[in-house]
Amino acid sequence: MLKYFVYAIIAAIIAGITAGGIHLYRVAQKNKKEMSRYAEGPAAKVKPLGRVLVIYYSLSGHTRDIAERIRNFTGADMYEIKPLQEISANPLFYLKVRSQLKNKKFPELEGEMPDVSKYDMVFVGAPVWWYTIATPGFSFLEQMDFKGKKVVPFSTQGSNYGSFFEDFSTYAKNAKILTPASFNNLSPKYDRQVDNKIAAWLNSL
Ligand SMILES: Cc1cc2nc3c(=O)[nH]c(=O)nc-3n(C[C@H](O)[C@H](O)[C@H](O)COP(=O)(O)O)c2cc1C
Repeated sequence: MLKYFVYAIIAAIIAGITAGGIHLYRVAQKNKKEMSRYAEGPAAKVKPLGRVLVIYYSLSGHTRDIAERIRNFTGADMYEIKPLQEISANPLFYLKVRSQLKNKKFPELEGEMPDVSKYDMVFVGAPVWWYTIATPGFSFLEQMDFKGKKVVPFSTQGSNYGSFFEDFSTYAKNAKILTPASFNNLSPKYDRQVDNKIAAWLNSL
């Protein structure tokens, strides 16, 4: 009896590893296909977008990287969303985030809200957590009033941004939301393509 139990456990582990491998392979293929659209030439020039502010939250650096690339193209000012209590991504933290999302109780933030009055366009970026906006991003949106500004959301994620942009539209008060963009985490070999994707996106706004 014990023998069959052990076999079942081994089979479940093998199935899990295989499913994970297939998922990663599919994501890699999808990323490759998307990036092939941006393979040509050096990053294009970007049209002037006026005075730009890039607001972002980033735990492990991916969203900061995209925010900085937008700044490099536009000369934007930057505003970082900072939780009052430091976040460290351990397994319990994943469960804590789930409960914050379920109860709509988001972490407290440090500092004042940015003054957006002098900007023509405001980018707001955050990672995807559990198929929606990372909870410090929700904290920010709850406190912020965009006062009729043009707001451009962007996300970074492993592969699935879920309801990030719908939730963004629901929470961003008085924002004129322009075309968003989402960025999967990619290896540095796609650096130039990512810049080209950002340039094409900025030129489409
Ligand atoms: C708590 C948590 C939940 C996540 N949930 C998702 C998800 O639902 N979908 C996804 O594609 N990636 C998910 N990720 C991966 C992050 O979205 C991705 O690594 C992101 O680029 C991290 O941004 P950062 O480096 O700016 O913090 C999750 C990461 C964390 C820490």
